[in-house]
Amino acid sequence: MNARPEPRELLYEGKAKQVFACDDADVVIVRYKDDATAFNAQKRGTVSDKGVVNNAVSAMLYGELEAFGVPTHFVEQLGARDQLVRRVTIVPVEVIVRNRAAGTFAKRYGVDEGLELDPVVVEWCYKSDPLGDPPMNTATAVALGLADEAQLEAMFDYAADVNDYLGARFAVAGLELVDFKLEFGIDAAGELRLADEISPDTCRLWDAETGEKLDKDRFRRDLGGVEEAYQEVWKRLRDTQGRDLELPEDDFDLDHVHLDDGDDDAALGAALPRPGAHDA
Ligand SMILES: Nc1ncnc2c1ncn2[C@@H]1O[C@H](COP(=O)(O)OP(=O)(O)OP(=O)(O)O)[C@@H](O)[C@H]1O
Ligand SMILES: [Mg+2]
Repeated sequence: MNARPEPRELLYEGKAKQVFACDDADVVIVRYKDDATAFNAQKRGTVSDKGVVNNAVSAMLYGELEAFGVPTHFVEQLGARDQLVRRVTIVPVEVIVRNRAAGTFAKRYGVDEGLELDPVVVEWCYKSDPLGDPPMNTATAVALGLADEAQLEAMFDYAADVNDYLGARFAVAGLELVDFKLEFGIDAAGELRLADEISPDTCRLWDAETGEKLDKDRFRRDLGGVEEAYQEVWKRLRDTQGRDLELPEDDFDLDHVHLDDGDDDAALGAALPRPGAHDA
């Protein structure tokens, strides 16, 4: 029988979580904190029991995503704030999936929050706090050696599956999935896995009836009721666990945004010949 994994050395302390080594080098314990930050940590605070909610939400959704066929880092929930996950080397490319315009996207392009996006927009950002996680295209990610094309394509496909699943999953809970951020990592066996967390810190979730924001924007924008919103998301997910989901019929198909449909290697644009002098 395996002993219950215990947290050993603190490997990393981030803004929202601590990561501890275990005796088994292939796994780590992630401890969810109540600390909240926004705008690249320029705004700081705490949200009472946020760590408990985010751990519970993340554990539930990763278990469900794994069952849906997306390889994830999740192993098991260990307690109110702790979960055991496979240790991965994080790919420094954050994946943002946008079903509607909101936040920085709405600001960047001067459109109203809530504008429906067709096709769904997938963005890469360079995971770098000092640089403020700048957006980049596929060629940039490859040229900077942050990920190779095959990894980016796999991340793209998994992100699409995650969007299909989570869109339906939040819908049965009366929530609309507006946008979210994912991180991926490579495990000890070299396999790409969905890592980090999925929670109201990393997703924009609007009440399906009223449009009320039930996510970190309540903290970012001083809307009040932050704790209550996080609790509400957890309660709705818990109360709807196991319900039948209405998954989209068509696979989320991004062929139409590929730059060269005919050639899989060029699918994300990364393998296109380098443009000449007109390169901006
Ligand atoms: N399975 C995993 N193995 C190793 N590291 C992981 C795993 N899942 C997530 N991480 C990393 O652990 C850290 C969690 O801490 P937290 O989310 O608080 O970081 P953060 O403040 O957002 O900062 P940053 O993500 O920029 O390091 C992140 O760096 C995340 O990428
Ligand atoms: Mg983080």
